[in-house]
Amino acid sequence: MSNTYIKSLPEQIGQTVRIQGWVTHFRSSGKIHFIILRDGTGVVQCVVAGTGVSQVGFSQWEEIGTETAISVEGLVRADPRSPMGVEISATEIGLQGQSLDYPIAPKEHGTDFLMAHRHLWIRSPRQASILRIRATIVRAIRGFLDSHGFIVADPPILTPAAAEGTTTLFGIDYFGDPAYLSQSGQLYMEALAMALGRVYSFGPTFRAEKSKTRRHLTEFWMVEPEMAFVEFEENLRWQEQLVEFVVAQVLGECGDDLLSIGRDLAPLRRVKAPFPRITYDQALGRLADLNMEIPWGEDLGAPHETALAEQFDRPVFITHFPTKLKAFYMQPDALRPEVVLAADLLAPEGYGEIVGGSQRIHELSLLEDRLTEHQLSPEVYSWYLDLRRYGSVPHSGFGMGLERVVAWIAGLDHVRETTAFARTLNRVWP
Ligand code: 4AD
Ligand code: MG
Repeated sequence: MSNTYIKSLPEQIGQTVRIQGWVTHFRSSGKIHFIILRDGTGVVQCVVAGTGVSQVGFSQWEEIGTETAISVEGLVRADPRSPMGVEISATEIGLQGQSLDYPIAPKEHGTDFLMAHRHLWIRSPRQASILRIRATIVRAIRGFLDSHGFIVADPPILTPAAAEGTTTLFGIDYFGDPAYLSQSGQLYMEALAMALGRVYSFGPTFRAEKSKTRRHLTEFWMVEPEMAFVEFEENLRWQEQLVEFVVAQVLGECGDDLLSIGRDLAPLRRVKAPFPRITYDQALGRLADLNMEIPWGEDLGAPHETALAEQFDRPVFITHFPTKLKAFYMQPDALRPEVVLAADLLAPEGYGEIVGGSQRIHELSLLEDRLTEHQLSPEVYSWYLDLRRYGSVPHSGFGMGLERVVAWIAGLDHVRETTAFARTLNRVWP
């Protein structure tokens, strides 16, 4: 008999099938045994009644522990009480992989214990829901960009120089020469935008962030669209449309997963473009009204971002940051060169910055000056300067951090649950 998946059982009522999976729960009541089985596509109860059931590969029912892998043959029956609407009357149970003393019990474990057992923790229903939501977000991002004519192109991970400032680079020994793990593919995406017009990358980036917060990973995924002939305003419109689309897709496809992990859907339903915009200067004014003054030129911290985001019912752009706060490549405002044509998009509900983007400097001499000011070597960036020597045009782009978006949409307390194996300041294991 060929195997079937649990998710297709509702279409096979009245048929005899064979499924394979892992036991999440086993209970006996006299001669009747109840097995809750999960196979990654769904969860179903298998009822083992009486003595006419063949046991293959084991003799004692006590050998069927939590996370034991088994196969079940049986009749699919309609059962209105079960979440899937079906259960299985088993005729044969076959042992595939023993599991005794599974370390994760249905009780409260500490975060350290769970993270140390992350290779097993991902089997729990909540973690599986989060990983499915993440997969839906990835598909939505790609779907949106692919359908709007963006060409996916992949920048290198091993790079000779910094894109975002030198403090958070992971250095490596590249056959005797220094190299770094990419902290952003942006500079390469600018080269690719001059070749293909509208492009994006989507892959891992690395930052040796010494921050132990609920939003920082040392390895995270970023989607980085870059667009030739696009200026500041249009850049913001692409960002808000992308975010609106992604949230709508997740609401449409992952309703059950969102509800099962306890996400309040009302704030997500309000995520509709256009998003409000305030300048950095206005943000400082709003913060002063809240008795949270910061001097002009200083960066917004997490509490400031949260306080500002709370004043809006959807994501909000903070624009026109002080030039000296931001990366070397950002285009200054023509009327006020002390600020740049950059924006951060803050998510609601205290999730902070999810997107950072800007118009890029397209004039050679200004970019050369900026490299000098930032004490970056013009030789190392010579290929990047070439982009301003040969047909330079205004262009813009942005980077959206996948894990921050997953944390926000799924309503998670910490980014460590947004990815299968999170890398943080104090954990690279398992
Ligand atoms: O604001 P950032 O540093 O921007 C850039 O890297 C630009 N080069 C992007 C571009 O314009 N192409 O990072 C972009 C986003 C942030 O808004 C945040 O969502 C995420 O990347 N991010 C992190 N996510 C998790 N852990 C970290 N340590 C992160 N650092 C940034
Ligand atoms: Mg940023």
